[in-house]
Amino acid sequence: MTSNNDTLFARAQLTTPGGVNSPVRAFRSVGGTPRFITRAEGPYFWDADDRRYIDYIGSWGPAIVGHAHPTVVKAVQDAAARGLSFGAPTQGEIEIAEEICKLVPSIEQVRLVSSGTEATMSALRLARGATGRDKIVKFEGCYHGHADSLLVKAGSGLLTFGNPTSAGVPEDFVKHTLVLDYNNTQQLEDAFKDMGDQIACVIVEPVAGNMNLVRATPEFLQTMRRLCTQYGTVLIFDEVMCGFRVALGGAQALYGIKPDITALGKVIGGGLPVAAFGGRADLMGHMAPLGPVYQAGTLSGNPVAVAAGMSTLKLIQEPGFYTNLTAQTSKLVNGLSQAAKEAGVTFCGDAIGGMFGLYFAATVPGSYAAVMASNKDLFNRFFHAMLDAGVYLAPSAFEAGFVSAQHDDAVIAATIEAARGAFAQLA
Ligand SMILES: Cc1ncc(COP(=O)(O)O)c(C=O)c1O
Repeated sequence: MTSNNDTLFARAQLTTPGGVNSPVRAFRSVGGTPRFITRAEGPYFWDADDRRYIDYIGSWGPAIVGHAHPTVVKAVQDAAARGLSFGAPTQGEIEIAEEICKLVPSIEQVRLVSSGTEATMSALRLARGATGRDKIVKFEGCYHGHADSLLVKAGSGLLTFGNPTSAGVPEDFVKHTLVLDYNNTQQLEDAFKDMGDQIACVIVEPVAGNMNLVRATPEFLQTMRRLCTQYGTVLIFDEVMCGFRVALGGAQALYGIKPDITALGKVIGGGLPVAAFGGRADLMGHMAPLGPVYQAGTLSGNPVAVAAGMSTLKLIQEPGFYTNLTAQTSKLVNGLSQAAKEAGVTFCGDAIGGMFGLYFAATVPGSYAAVMASNKDLFNRFFHAMLDAGVYLAPSAFEAGFVSAQHDDAVIAATIEAARGAFAQLA
């Protein structure tokens, strides 16, 4: 019998490139037909054949309180009834800005935008505008959205500038982007020694979630902070993914390191398009209309999206929220590791707060190269076996996973049971 997912995928491809509106959704990495989702509730979503899955992508991060949480849905409905968009300021924008400044240790002022890409792109512009410098440093394996100067991979030499990773990005646009190895403190020291006074900013995912899950070592981030301060370089933490995921105050709270600017997204929109960049008030003062760095958005601070974000930010401050989230994520990763061991499959996992990484490798990777050396074929087979068993993992070996507050013991146990069967198929 033909699946409705197959029918929808064939139809989607007629009018949408590759049938999807964001590439990873197309299942290219794992093969097969993407599931078309019709509804979601709590830890589950359902596809076009009405098959239920335990969802471990959570819309790639935002769904931290679970799907369609009644409080969030009610806030959205109430806001929508008052009007969808005004193009003029609202009290809701002040309230969410106050909440973000309260929760994120380094943020004194914040500007709302509609996507993580916009947040990091604007943060870069701010750093360049404030320092009057052009060069930026990023790290291999970190993803910061799809702005031109960030779609770059390392050049041929250690301290040579990068090459575009996408067609359509002129070499000229990336000639100021230096790409270094994640967690390589020495390389960072060398780069600053060589050209520190020309570097506008360093941008980093302090917990990387776009090359599977890779934690920064404290030494790496501390060195980065020290060098940026010494050379007058702006330190940007891209916490679009890890912010409000690894801890209430984000990775900066976990590591006790204050960046100058932070990019946020995902959780602060609670499933609707809200992202932000914020930081030191003196730096944010360079933004228009106060200063010369231009940035704007028709739907920035949209009242319905802000209502979803604000109600989510309230829910994650309920007592025990992160203790529970962290415990459930650890239970999941420990259970999967145990199941793999019983089946004799080389596998390990890592978890921080509500984010996790699964690696078909003997040890938890600390760099892009180590992640790339893990066994992708085994992951792909595991992914499909889990999907068949009703568990939806990220459709790529190089993405992190997400647990929500609705993934209770029964849901975790069902996942581990499914994994026992999946690992047995791999052995
Ligand atoms: C760390 C990080 N930065 C930026 C982005 C871009 O955000 P968006 O997809 O909302 O543009 C992402 C998206 O996954 C991300 O994970």
